Amino acid sequence: MTSILTPDLADAMVRVTEKAAVAASTLVGRGDEKAADQAAVDAMRTAFNDIDFRGRIVIGEGERDEAPMLYIGEEVGTGTGPEIDIALDPLEGTTLTAKAMANALAVLAIAPRGGLLHAPDTYMEKIAIGPGYPDDIVSLDATPAEVIAELAKAKGVEVGAMTACVLDRPRHAETIESLRSAGARIRLITDGDVAGVIYTTDPATGIDLYVGSGGAPEGVLAAAALKCVGGQMKGRLIFRNDDERARASRVGITDFDRTYDLSELASDETVFCATGVTNGDLLEGVRTDGGQVQTHTLVMSSEDGAVRMIRSKRPA
Ligand code: FBP
Repeated sequence: MTSILTPDLADAMVRVTEKAAVAASTLVGRGDEKAADQAAVDAMRTAFNDIDFRGRIVIGEGERDEAPMLYIGEEVGTGTGPEIDIALDPLEGTTLTAKAMANALAVLAIAPRGGLLHAPDTYMEKIAIGPGYPDDIVSLDATPAEVIAELAKAKGVEVGAMTACVLDRPRHAETIESLRSAGARIRLITDGDVAGVIYTTDPATGIDLYVGSGGAPEGVLAAAALKCVGGQMKGRLIFRNDDERARASRVGITDFDRTYDLSELASDETVFCATGVTNGDLLEGVRTDGGQVQTHTLVMSSEDGAVRMIRSKRPA
């Protein structure tokens, strides 16, 4: 059966993240997170509406009453063509952009209808590794020290040769302590756990494990990326209050304690795209030079597992 995620549709998605990244880049270092996010949102929405598809946002900027654009449930596209679900984060790393720090991205993933978990805008506990390990080697029920020891054994190295990536937050003190007590190295990141998960798939980063809690929407985006290149991931939603449980109910979640496997976070074929806003480990940021604007985009497809890096130059 031919995929509805055609190469043309994937190319169109590349142009969407490129446009969002270029728009956000005009606000790099200006100290205004909201304005940078809004610029990316506006550009992404305009770009979607030029594409012949029936897009439905399942992971977006929030619920309709709090997000005027790219809200969960919003339909985008020209209204003709394939029915596609979209997970997006027009600016993954609003603080990174506002402070001109590394690793801000414009990100999206697409799948046929129903192919991406409708995650609420809450936190999610996440654990992820790249390809090449035995099945079911990661668990949210084991300590990070136990997980990293198993991974080291499977890789045939000492735990001291393993590196975990963790968001630098006080809530991760125990996780960090557990990993350090096992002898692992930790790469702390200030923001951007979609990239944190993707690092595990690229040996050049030296990162073996991603662990910690972050946004649930970012969890689904990261899962879509892993689905394309292989890897393992588990995610469990975290609820801090009844309002968050109500958010989950509204998107159809009934079991609040469930641990989702990668195959449930991203259950169908998918295409994942990310364009660098600021320079980072995965991608270069937007560069404007001599009347030209240059972008750097990563696009992956679960159909062939290919990772393509696209550099585009166009008149500014
Ligand atoms: P934003 O770009 O929406 O600010 O998200 C950045 C981010 O670091 C995500 O990558 C991560 O999932 C989340 O924030 C972590 O949340 P918190 O900053 O509350 O720990």
